[in-house]
Amino acid sequence: MRLYPPLPVLLRVALADDSACGRRIPRGSFVAIMPWVVHRHRKLWQDPDRFDPERFAPRQGDTRSRYAYIPFSVGPRVCVAASLGMAEILIAMAVIAQRLRFRLVPGQTIEPTAWSTLRPKRGILMRVEPRAAGSAGV
Ligand code: HEM
Repeated sequence: MRLYPPLPVLLRVALADDSACGRRIPRGSFVAIMPWVVHRHRKLWQDPDRFDPERFAPRQGDTRSRYAYIPFSVGPRVCVAASLGMAEILIAMAVIAQRLRFRLVPGQTIEPTAWSTLRPKRGILMRVEPRAAGSAGV
């Protein structure tokens, strides 16, 4: 959700002349807000390219901006199903990972590409094996 946000770009059209960060935004301009870039920004994240789910563990004195992590957008047009989306992902992962083990087929170049959503350009080849009974979570 951070390194490969399903919606890597959010587009808006300026309804009126405006400005942001010292830049003029004429009425009618397209403005792209890029979770892909925001989520990897070195001023917002320490060691931004590292996959580290622990960085989301609740910590006292957490100073990360509310706007640094926006996979569901933010503000009035925030995803109406953010909680449902997260619950679906966790349930699907838990059910699948208990039963199956996925191993990456070596020798692939995995290239992310964005159309409306982010996806691997040529797919990802995985070897899928059933987990032995009693080995769930190993
Ligand atoms: C991982 C799953 C999901 C992600 C990452 C996601 C992400 C987003 C994002 C970034 C937006 C804002 C788009 C924009 O304003 O340009 C959005 C809007 C929206 N999402 Fe999701 N979404 C997810 C799942 C879902 C699901 C499961 C539903 C419905 C069951 C849903 C319904 C909506 C709707 C209706 C909006 C438009 C809200 C509005 O404009 O007022 N989303 N979503």
